[in-house]
This record gives sequence, structure tokens and C-alpha cells, in this order.
Amino acid sequence: MWPYPKIVAHRGGGTLAPENTFAALRCGLDYGFRAVEFDVMLSRDGVGVVLHDDQLGRTVAGSGSVAERTAAELTALDAGSWFSPLFADERVPDFGQFMAYCKARRIWMNIEIKPVPGHERATGRAVAAAVRAGFGAEIAAGDPAQLPLLSSFSAAALAAARDAAPQLPRAYLLDALPADWRAQSAALGAVAVHTNHRHLTPALARAVKDAGLGLFCYTVNEPERARTLLGWGVDGFCTDRIDLIGPAFA
Ligand code: G3P
Ligand code: MG
Repeated sequence: MWPYPKIVAHRGGGTLAPENTFAALRCGLDYGFRAVEFDVMLSRDGVGVVLHDDQLGRTVAGSGSVAERTAAELTALDAGSWFSPLFADERVPDFGQFMAYCKARRIWMNIEIKPVPGHERATGRAVAAAVRAGFGAEIAAGDPAQLPLLSSFSAAALAAARDAAPQLPRAYLLDALPADWRAQSAALGAVAVHTNHRHLTPALARAVKDAGLGLFCYTVNEPERARTLLGWGVDGFCTDRIDLIGPAFA
């Protein structure tokens, strides 16, 4: 069974606000969302920051690798102007602060561990340790619905997260499901697979559910497609179009 929300705002607030910012979270809240997906990578000094790209330049000014900058440098960067001058005050969020903001507002989190290449294990370990520290009481309560779900395309990051905090639920992110998705998911102790909806078929969806795994899709932006996927047994998905597909979508 899927204990988590069905409809999740992608990168904070989808495409209605600058991705992976506090403004995106506020936008999601305005649309009634209490479930969010966002991406975390590590600074040079080992601090989690909420960013999607490992290279600067697209959503923040500058160039070069995120792994070459300290957290102080990264969290000073303007993360909103690329989207609109109205968001020029947005900064790259510190992961711990972002998580605390969500927790205080009861926003469920799908935290995507997004390592800079070469930093897979360190990123998985740091993210899991931070979540474990922030959710000690919820881990003790043993109710998975109260816990964030960690996901990653990186098996090494997920393995490190498992080693650091085995109690936290993990999902394996895969573009198209490879032939050995069952074995890979089992090796990581994953509770779910997260996959690109474009490659999913009704038979594959059934196989994932029959294997006892949760099935989550990214990134579903058309209501008709969303209905089709839910009809195939997909448990949930993230969306960029929080204006078209609301939290109560069915
Ligand atoms: O976690 C699902 C989705 O966010 C994966 O793709 O590139 O948007 O992080 P991306
Ligand atoms: Mg993501």
C-alpha cells in the first residue's frame, strides 16, 4: 500500500515559481499542496543545498560545479531572477532549513538525492543523516506516512542512505525500468520505484504492484495522462502543473 500523498508538486511548485526555492513551496501551499518533491546536492563543505543542476548557470548565476562552492557561497546565490525579476530575492535554500519549513507546515517530502558525479555516497549519507536527525520521533513512531521518502537515480547514494539511516524509506528512481528492476530494488531495500511515465506500460505497472512495490511517476503534466496512469494502478506522481492537477485530483 502507498502511505504517501498521490499528487506531489515537482521541484517545489512545478513551473509556476522558480524551482527548488521557498517561493516554490509558498506557491504550492497557495494551491493547496501539502506534498513536494525537491532535489538535494552537497556543497564543497558537505552541506545539503536544494538545487537540481550540478553545474551553476541555469537557475543561478555563475559557472562550474556545485561541489566547488561552499554552502555559504551557494546559499547567497540568486535562485529566482532567471524565472522572473519578481523572484530576485530568492536564494539557493539550505536543505536543513528547507526540510524544517516543510515539516513545520506538514508538507510531505519526496527528497531526491541528486549527487554531483563522484559524490554519490557522501550525498546519500549526509541527506539520510539530516533526515534522521530531523525526524527522530517519527522514526520511533514507526509510521511511514510521517516520514519523507528518499529517492535517487544513484544506487550508490541510496545504498549509503540505507547504511546511514536504514529506517528511512527509499525509492529507486529509474528513467525506463531495466529488466532487473526487481533485483535492483530489492538490493537497495527500496519500498517503491519512481519512473518516467513515458516508458511505463499497463503490464509493467501491474508487475511493479504485484512485486509489492510502490509505483510513482515523474513528471505528469496533463490531466488526461494522469487519469490513465492512475487507472493503471500508479500510486502517485509529481507534476509541474499544480494549477491543472491539484492535490485532490482523481
Ligand atoms: O524525482 C522525480 C524527478 O524529479 C526526477 O527528475 O530531473 O526533475 O529531478 P528531475
Ligand atoms: Mg527531482
